[in-house]
Amino acid sequence: MQRETVLILDFGSQFNQLIARRVRELGVYCELIPFSTPIEKIKAYEPKGIIFSGGPKSVYEEDSPRPDDGIYSLGVPIFGICYGCQLIAQRFGGQVFRGESEYGKCTLNRRDGKTVLFDGLPQESICWMSHSDYVRDLPDDFRVTASTDNVPNVGFEDDKRKIYCVQFHPEVAHTEKGKDIISNFLFKACRLKGDWNMANFAAEQIELLREKIGDKKVLCALSGGVDSAVAATLIHRACPNLICVFVDHGLLRKNEAEEVVRVFAGEQKMNLIKVDAQDEFLDALKGACEPEKKRKIIGSHFIKVFEREAKKIGKVDFLVQGTIYPDRIESGLNGSATIKSHHNVGGLPSVVDFKEIIEPLRDLFKDEVRALGFTLGLPESIVMRQPFPGPGLGIRIMGEVTREKLEILREADCIYREEIAKAGLDKSVWQYFAVLTSTQTVGVMGDYRTYDYTLALRGVTSVDGMTADWARIPYEVLDIVSRRIVNEVKSVNRVVYDITSKPPATIEWE
Ligand code: XMP
Repeated sequence: MQRETVLILDFGSQFNQLIARRVRELGVYCELIPFSTPIEKIKAYEPKGIIFSGGPKSVYEEDSPRPDDGIYSLGVPIFGICYGCQLIAQRFGGQVFRGESEYGKCTLNRRDGKTVLFDGLPQESICWMSHSDYVRDLPDDFRVTASTDNVPNVGFEDDKRKIYCVQFHPEVAHTEKGKDIISNFLFKACRLKGDWNMANFAAEQIELLREKIGDKKVLCALSGGVDSAVAATLIHRACPNLICVFVDHGLLRKNEAEEVVRVFAGEQKMNLIKVDAQDEFLDALKGACEPEKKRKIIGSHFIKVFEREAKKIGKVDFLVQGTIYPDRIESGLNGSATIKSHHNVGGLPSVVDFKEIIEPLRDLFKDEVRALGFTLGLPESIVMRQPFPGPGLGIRIMGEVTREKLEILREADCIYREEIAKAGLDKSVWQYFAVLTSTQTVGVMGDYRTYDYTLALRGVTSVDGMTADWARIPYEVLDIVSRRIVNEVKSVNRVVYDITSKPPATIEWE
C-alpha cells in the first residue's frame, strides 16, 4: 500500500518543519529528507511532488547545497521556496543576484497570465520574505507570475517542466495566502487526492500491524503520556497479545494513576499490569536533595522495576516505543550540553528480552498523534494531557521528596489545574503546574502566626518546550488560585508566580 507522498528536500531553513506541517494539514503525507538524498532513494518513495525548502546559503557559495541533478528528470512537479527557487533559476540558466537583505512583510502583486500557484488568489496579498539573493533574470521558458516592489521575479513557473517557484515563504503564518499557494501546488500541480487523515491512517496501520504481529507477544511501557497511550491503543486494535506495564512511581499528579487504569484496563479493555512501586521509589529517594541525583535515582529505579516485571513476562516478540516524527527529525542533530538528564522510556530496550521494536507513530507529528488518539476513542484527559516529565513530581518538589510534601503539591496542583480549565485557558497555556519550594515564610491566619511553605505556580507558552515564555495568566485567575490554595491546602501560606522565560530559566524548576 503506497501512500501518496510529497518529499521536502531540506536545504537548512528554520521553517522546514512548518512546510511539512502545512502539507500534512492539507491532507497530504510528506517527509522531510536531506537535500543530498541519492536519486535512487528518492525514486523509491514514488513521490507525487517535491518541494525544495529555503536555506541559509547563497547559490554562489562554494559548498552551497545542491540536490542530485537527476531530480529534474523525474517528471514530478517541483516547488522551489526561497533558496530552492534560486537554485532552480540558476540550474536552468537564469541569473541570481546578490542583493540587500530583505526581511518581513511585503505586498505580493500577481502578474497577468496563467498561473498554477496563484490561481484563485486576489490581485494583492501580504507575503513574508527572508532573503538576500534574488532572481534577476528568469531562465528560458519560465514565466513571471508575481512581483513585489523590490523584487520583480518573486514568483515564476514553467508548466512544461512542472516547476513552480516563489521567493517568499508560503509556509509561515504571516504570508496571508500561503496555505492556498501550497494547496494549489498539491492539488492543481500534483493533482493529489488529499486522503491523508487519521481515520485512514488508523485503518491502514491496524491492517499492517495485524499482518506483522499476528498472535505474537507485544510489550508496551505505558506512562499515561499521549504518545505511549496512542501507540498502545493502536496496537491493541490490531493484536490480541499486547501486555501493557504501567509503573506507578508515586510521583504522579492527583488521580492520574487511577485515570490510567480506568481508561486502559476499564474502557479500552487492555491487558494492563499496574506495578505499585510508590514505597520503593520513596525509599530510594530518601535523603536525595540534589536535582540531578533525584533524576538519576528515579530513572535507574524505573528501569529496575520494569526489568523485574519484564522478566516475569518472559521473552516477547515486540517492544512498542512511542517515538514520533519530530523525535526522528531531531535525533542526531542534538550534540548540545546536558542541561538535565531526561528520564523517559528510551532506556528500556536493553533490559527487555525482545526480538524487534515497533514504532507505530514514527511518521506522525504531535497534533496528528492527538487526532489519532481521538479517532481511536481515547478521552480528552489522555489525548490533551499537557507534557509531564518522566520523574514527575519528584522534580517539582525542591529538595527531599517526602509523602507529606507530595500530598501538599498534589492538592495545590489540582486546584491550579481546575481553575485554569474553568477560565478556559487549558488549551492556550502550553504547560502549567505547581512547584513546592523548600522556602518557609511567616504568615498570619486568623490571629495566629504561621510558618509554612511557599508554593510557586508556573505557566508557559511554547511550541515544543525548547524555548518558552511565561504565560500572561490574568491576575483575576491567579488571585482565585492563590486564595484557594492557601485556604484549602494545609502547610502553604504563600503563593508566587514564576515570570521567567526559557532561556535563561528552564520550564521545570529542577
Ligand atoms: P525543561 O525543564 O528542560 O523542560 O525546560 C522542557 C520540557 O521537557 C519536559 N521534561 C521532561 N520530559 N522527561 C521527560 O519526558 C524528563 O526527564 C523531563 N524533564 C523535563 C518538561 O516538562 C518540559 O515540557
